Amino acid sequence: MLKKTTFPTPPGRPARILLLGGTSEIGLEILLALRAPSDTEVVLAGRDEQRTTRAAAALPYRVRTSHFDAVEVDTHQAIVDELFADGPIDLVISAAGILVPQELLDEDPMQAAQLLDTNLTGQVTALLAAARHLRAQGHGTVVILSSVAAVRPRRANYVYGAAKAGLDAFARGLSDALHGSGVRVLLVRPGFVIGRMTAGMPPAPAATTPPAVGAVVAAALSSTASVVWIPRRLALLAQALRLVPRPLWRRLRR
Ligand SMILES: NC(=O)c1ccc[n+]([C@@H]2O[C@H](COP(=O)([O-])OP(=O)(O)OC[C@H]3O[C@@H](n4cnc5c(N)ncnc54)[C@H](OP(=O)(O)O)[C@@H]3O)[C@@H](O)[C@H]2O)c1
Repeated sequence: MLKKTTFPTPPGRPARILLLGGTSEIGLEILLALRAPSDTEVVLAGRDEQRTTRAAAALPYRVRTSHFDAVEVDTHQAIVDELFADGPIDLVISAAGILVPQELLDEDPMQAAQLLDTNLTGQVTALLAAARHLRAQGHGTVVILSSVAAVRPRRANYVYGAAKAGLDAFARGLSDALHGSGVRVLLVRPGFVIGRMTAGMPPAPAATTPPAVGAVVAAALSSTASVVWIPRRLALLAQALRLVPRPLWRRLRR
């Protein structure tokens, strides 16, 4: 039986996809859920060659790895230029990120700087570098992993929330800036995802999984959506979260 493909193949050549954060559970599940043809070229860009090579082995595509450290912001332009020099890139997925307990950040503000560099600054530098090429080639899609944490800062993770709020704003601005260029931005706002990043944490209400996120993103890519909440009911929940009175909100433990 033929596999159903959710990612359109460009005419005359195999698709090329770049995953920034090349070992991300969510990023890898998006790639699998795309069910793209096996001659699709995927670049897993990550900070650890062994981990990206291991991740590459599990994908049914032509996969190569590339060095990408989100905090090495001054390298991003050259890395991205080199990847686009090999040909057009049809899909860029921005999935690098870290989650550090707020208590550790309170003790060590330099870890907070690392979190902001990884989750925000490094995404902005890499994606601006990519956007220039995407605009020039006149087509392509950028998937940006925001979070429900972007909606309202919680005392239990407000540095992470601040980074995601910044990234979310960047994604919406980038989407508007690219409007009419043929390039589309898909902003993804998952809730709690049970996986490596949240290991050891009790699941929050409406928790989801990396394969579920992958499936929703793949479906959204073959639609015209510009924002997806995962699960979908989070969109409504997020409206409610904004309305919780502050004295109550600040009592939330997580
Ligand atoms: N899991 C959740 O509950 C959840 C919810 C909402 C949004 N998100 C967001 O979704 C994205 C993917 O998360 P995930 O669940 O797939 O987590 P994950 O499996 O831990 O993936 C995080 C990725 O970020 C990479 N990374 C961390 N620091 C990096 C750096 N300095 N340079 C380059 N790459 C770096 C990791 O690479 P290494 O292998 O080298 O560590 C890994 O590839 C993140 O942006 C996250 O904030 C996650």
